[in-house]
Amino acid sequence: MINYQHIPIMANEILSFIDGEKNLSILDCTFGGGGHSKNFLEKGHYVTAIDQDENSIKIAKKLKKTFPNMFFYKSNFKNFDLLDLSTKKFDLILLDLGFSSIQLADSNIGLSFKKNSNLNMNYLGGDLNAYKIINYYDKDELKRVFNLYGEINQAEKLAKYIVKQRSLKKINTNFELIDVLRDSGVNFRSKKIHFATQAFQALRIESNNELENLVTFLKKVHIFLEINAYLAIISFHSLEDRIVKNYFKDNRIKKSKYFQNNKNWGFEILTKKPLVSSKNEVLENNRARSAKLRVGRFVN
Ligand SMILES: C[S@@+](CC[C@H](N)C(=O)[O-])C[C@H]1O[C@@H](n2cnc3c(N)ncnc32)[C@H](O)[C@@H]1O
Repeated sequence: MINYQHIPIMANEILSFIDGEKNLSILDCTFGGGGHSKNFLEKGHYVTAIDQDENSIKIAKKLKKTFPNMFFYKSNFKNFDLLDLSTKKFDLILLDLGFSSIQLADSNIGLSFKKNSNLNMNYLGGDLNAYKIINYYDKDELKRVFNLYGEINQAEKLAKYIVKQRSLKKINTNFELIDVLRDSGVNFRSKKIHFATQAFQALRIESNNELENLVTFLKKVHIFLEINAYLAIISFHSLEDRIVKNYFKDNRIKKSKYFQNNKNWGFEILTKKPLVSSKNEVLENNRARSAKLRVGRFVN
């Protein structure tokens, strides 16, 4: 039996934006363990939820028994516009990016470098995974992944070493990969984090196409926002946060409702700096330490 617990990140901060509002129509694009959705439902709002994860279907079914006002769709959120959603405009759209604690604990997915498992890291069910990247990408592709998504300075040196090692023996597991990283002689950036963190992040982003999913989603999300709706996005690494920050910046309204880029819509930015979790939240939920929440209000 899987433990379906996922503690929602910055739950109070998100609810504070809609405090006192009633019967809102909310789109939760990263339902996960249903933590945020449940909070919205308990306040009497209507929730349309999306997630690519099979586990979420069971959780959503269970939640629907108590709250018939919710509808779940299994999909990649980058394709949310192709779904036959019962509601077409929303008062709040939430993205709580990345993977859930259920997925982190799943050794078939193998996101953790603390537990040994087959190399995979794909939590969205696509065709690509860390095994294919590590064992079949050519040197330049490996370098691109480590450089862009892991921000590893010596990406070329690492790519060369991996290509050499895998010609001797395929790299099958997380622990085998960690040995290769350790023996590569690459100087990984930070002493504060585990030395494999950047490489694992890079492989996870590539395996799940994380940045492309986000960019594709952002290109069309405005079509689904009611006037005065909120767009709230929680990200967990600087590459994602940069995309979100630039999206709001590029589409922010200037004083006197001046829209940019010949558009007739924009956002009032409600978080000049991203909100971060309180010390208490981080103590209770370590994953909250890297979360950043940005919220904009849609003006049309
Ligand atoms: C951090 S968890 C969300 C947790 C949720 N807010 C809660 O309170 O339980 C992220 C979820 O987003 C899902 N996810 C990430 N990227 C996705 C994508 N491109 N399409 C659909 N679901 C995605 C993952 O499967 C995971 O369940």
